[in-house]
Amino acid sequence: MKKILVIHGPNLNLLGQREPGIYGKVTLEAINDELKKIAKKKKVGLIIKQSNHEGEIVDMIGKAKNKFAAIMINPAAYTHTSVAIRDALAACGVLAIEVHLSNIYTREEFRHKSLISPVVKGTIMGFGSKSYSLGLNALLDLLDA
Ligand code: DQA
Repeated sequence: MKKILVIHGPNLNLLGQREPGIYGKVTLEAINDELKKIAKKKKVGLIIKQSNHEGEIVDMIGKAKNKFAAIMINPAAYTHTSVAIRDALAACGVLAIEVHLSNIYTREEFRHKSLISPVVKGTIMGFGSKSYSLGLNALLDLLDA
């Protein structure tokens, strides 16, 4: 069975309570449940991790080679700052996509640059919690193609 690694970056554990006007009221648990439903239907394995620590995320990506068919990551604030996460994704060579709840280009200028986008297959953003289900379905289509 193919396995997908889902990585939620810093502060995404607070979804539901965190700035609901921007990120919505859906909790991370509800997002994960929806992803698990999709994975079950499509018969793929899903490992879901959340971390507030950059190095931990780098380690997760580093260990993904030969274990996972693909990675779906919301690097959260590290999107805009982390050369280390970008380099880990580039080095591991596993098919990866980037997901954001909000449209980072409609927000503060410091969010307009993603260091991650150049090293992933594609990015889905701006659809709130739905960005994740859209992302997973897109990833599964890519793997089937
Ligand atoms: C985010 C956007 C980032 O700018 C922010 O730091 C986050 C969440 C999103 O999903 O919209 O924590 O990645």
